Amino acid sequence: MERPLTQHITFPPLGLRQYEAVGGYQAVRKAVRHMEPKDVTALVKEANMRGRGGAGFSTGMKWSFVPMDVPGPKYLVANADEMEPGTFKDRWLLEGNPHQLIEGMIVSAYAIQATESFVFLRWAYKQAAVEIRKAIAEAYDAGYLGKNILGTDYSLEMHLHTGVGRYMCGEETALLNSLEGKRATPRAKPPFPQVSGLFGRPTIVNNVETLSYIPHIVNHGVAWFQSLSRTADGGTKIYGVSGRVNKPGAWELPMGVTMRELIEEHAGGMQNGYRFRGVLPGGASTDFLVEEHMDVQMDFTGVAAAGSRLGTGTMVVLDDRTCPVGFVHNLEHFFSQESCGFCTPCREGLPWTEKLLWAIEQGKGREEDLALLASHATLLGPGNTFCALAPGAMEPLQSALKYFKEDFEQHIKHKKCPYHD
Ligand code: NAI
Repeated sequence: MERPLTQHITFPPLGLRQYEAVGGYQAVRKAVRHMEPKDVTALVKEANMRGRGGAGFSTGMKWSFVPMDVPGPKYLVANADEMEPGTFKDRWLLEGNPHQLIEGMIVSAYAIQATESFVFLRWAYKQAAVEIRKAIAEAYDAGYLGKNILGTDYSLEMHLHTGVGRYMCGEETALLNSLEGKRATPRAKPPFPQVSGLFGRPTIVNNVETLSYIPHIVNHGVAWFQSLSRTADGGTKIYGVSGRVNKPGAWELPMGVTMRELIEEHAGGMQNGYRFRGVLPGGASTDFLVEEHMDVQMDFTGVAAAGSRLGTGTMVVLDDRTCPVGFVHNLEHFFSQESCGFCTPCREGLPWTEKLLWAIEQGKGREEDLALLASHATLLGPGNTFCALAPGAMEPLQSALKYFKEDFEQHIKHKKCPYHD
């Protein structure tokens, strides 16, 4: 099985010469010397590369929205602010193969004719900062960055920017505000960043896994990319599993592997004494799936059809000895703390949701609290808030009320948490 994204991951990572020795920077050579920018975009669009940050938007289509005939600077940003709970896939790429990301950024920047690029890195990823800084310096020395890349007319600057440790900075418009030195609140969309982004200029923001894939698509083409996948969403994907499984971890696998294969084969099944109850398939801001969904194919379409989202593809497993109310309370505590406070439903609604869940978990819940929580799931849901933070936070809640309702009722009826006798 091919694993293009992870096959050259090493700790410490390959230096520039070692990376070149395994085919590194060939895609930069090919793109800047032999391809028109629009042909790079067309290739990525045809490959049906869907963004790996969580939303699954077509990468090539996103690039195609950049107005190419507007004079002045354009920007490319790698969103490396990975903070989704349970998600640690980009860290693996950042620490284990920074040149792959840099190469992907150069090719992507070339496609949109960006003049400047940024890696917006999660504050806590200290080792990644060391590796990326070193790799950017090596790429400048070798002529892959800076003025007249490989003797062509194309020039690109690249900077590392470390974030401030806020979940909100991962939202692309909040990220751009943060990069401009402003408070990290989201902006209204439209206009989308492709048209008006960093400093009001056309800007592409892509996830680390997405950008790291671009050199491979340029080198090997559309048919190859699609052949890696079991479904119409092309390529391989980095999946992860955490929770009470025997071998928690992350693996690069064909897009569309089933949840059963992930949990039973790759993660080694549940630990002794624990039974599977449910899973958040793509980080914390997705709906629970349960036993009946074990054979769902883990691609954007398959997981959506099952009633959830692929999200980041890194799952969190709930077992039968962990209280679902406490589990969801813990998540809502996180989301409530991370709300930027900009819009009222999110700022006021998330702490209230957390408070209701805490009361239920402490045996102080009232019967009417369940209807109140369900109404929060709607009031903080899609269309009622400025960005996706609160709607994402409602996904584990609304699905826990659906699949684990009895657990909530038991807490209220017996005035205590049945998991903590
Ligand atoms: P979104 O669906 O609004 O946008 C996704 C991308 O597509 C953006 O770059 C946006 O500019 C573009 N886009 C969407 N509709 C467009 C249109 N009509 N025209 C032009 N461009 C368009 O999703 P959003 O709010 O950017 O991200 C939410 C996702 O982020 C969730 O799916 C969640 O799973 C994920 N997430 C990931 C985290 C991580 O650490 N990796 C953390 C938190 C959330």
